[in-house]
Amino acid sequence: MTSTWLVTGGAGYIGAHVVQAMTRAGRRVVVVDDLSTGSPTRLPAGVPLETCSVLDTATLAAVMTRYDVTGVIHLAAKKAVGESVDLPLYYYDQNVRGTASLLEAMRATGVRNLVFSSSAAVYGVPPAGLVTESTPTLPINPYGTTKLVCEWLIRDAAAAQGLSWLSLRYFNVCGAGSPLLGDPGTANLLQLTLQALTRDVRPKVFGDDHPTPDGTCIRDYIHVADLADAHLAAVEALLDRDGLADYYNVGTGEGASVRDVVMAAQHITGIHLPYEVVAGRAIDPPEVVADPARIMAELGWKAQYGLHEMIESAWAAYRPAPVAV
Ligand SMILES: NC(=O)c1ccc[n+]([C@@H]2O[C@H](COP(=O)([O-])OP(=O)(O)OC[C@H]3O[C@@H](n4cnc5c(N)ncnc54)[C@H](O)[C@@H]3O)[C@@H](O)[C@H]2O)c1
Repeated sequence: MTSTWLVTGGAGYIGAHVVQAMTRAGRRVVVVDDLSTGSPTRLPAGVPLETCSVLDTATLAAVMTRYDVTGVIHLAAKKAVGESVDLPLYYYDQNVRGTASLLEAMRATGVRNLVFSSSAAVYGVPPAGLVTESTPTLPINPYGTTKLVCEWLIRDAAAAQGLSWLSLRYFNVCGAGSPLLGDPGTANLLQLTLQALTRDVRPKVFGDDHPTPDGTCIRDYIHVADLADAHLAAVEALLDRDGLADYYNVGTGEGASVRDVVMAAQHITGIHLPYEVVAGRAIDPPEVVADPARIMAELGWKAQYGLHEMIESAWAAYRPAPVAV
C-alpha cells in the first residue's frame, strides 16, 4: 500500500498542482487548507480536504494519525510581499508560527519527512551572477524573512526530532497545468500584464534603466507544472534516502526580462497595447536567476517548459479578477 502525504495549502495555486502531480504518480494525499486564498474546486475528485489552519496543532496531529501520514509537503503560507511589509506580525504568525505548529504535530505523531515551500526571496538582492544555494541569504522584506526563519526552524527541529527534509526555493512561478488551475492572484508580473491587456490598460514596466541589456529587470520564470514535478522528485528522494537536510533552487537557469514577458504576452494574447514605463523601485534587484545545477544533479529534476509555454498556459487559464467597486 502506498503511503499518504499531507499537503498543507493544497487548495492553493501551487498546492493544487502538487496534489495533481502526486495523485497522477499514484501517491495518496490528504490536504489541510484554511481556504483563506485557496478553493476546494481546485482539488481532484476523491482527495480528502480538512479545512483548518496549520496553526491548529491538535487537528494537524489528528489528521496525521487518521491518515497514517508518512510525510508533509508544507505550502500553506501568506505570500504577498507588500502585505508582509504592512502586516509583519500577521506574516510571522501565519508563516513562522504555522510552521512551528506543523513541526510540533509531526513531533507528536512521529512523522519524519518534510518538503518545505521556500522562496528566492530568501536571497534578497543577490550579487551579480547565477544564484546558487550558497549565495548569502539576506531577505529584504518580512515575507522573505519569514521563509528564511522557517528554514532555520525546520533545520533546528529536524536535528532534534530526526526529521529528513528538503527546502525548495522557488523562483518566479507562473503558468498553469490545466485551464482550471490558473493563478488566481494578481500580484505577479504575468497576471498583472494579462489583467491590464484584457482591460484595455497599458501594462506597466517598472524602470527601464536597470543595468540589464534592455534596461528592465530579469527574473527566472518557472512553470508551475515543472515546479510540481520538483516536489515529486523531493518526495521520492525523501522516501529513498534517510537523513536528508538540504536546500534546492527551483528555477530554469534562464532569465527573461520584464520587457520579454510583456512582449510575449502581447504576442500570445494578440492584444498589442504598448507598455508604459513608470519609475523603477530602488529595491528591485536588476537580475535574479537560479543556478539549478544542484537539484538537477541530486534529485534528477530539470525544467521542461519555457517562457512561451508558461504564458500560453496562463492565458488559456486566465480569468479576469473581479473589479473592486
Ligand atoms: N507563487 C509564487 O510565485 C511563490 C514563489 C515562492 C514561494 N511560494 C510559496 O509557495 C507556497 C504556495 O504559494 P501559492 O502561490 O500557491 O499561494 P496561494 O495563496 O495560492 O496558496 C496558499 C494556500 O495555503 C492556504 N493557507 C494559507 N494560510 C494558511 C493557514 N494558516 N493554514 C492553512 N492553510 C493556509 C491558502 O488557503 C492557499 O490554499 C507558499 O508557501 C508561498 O510562499 C510561492
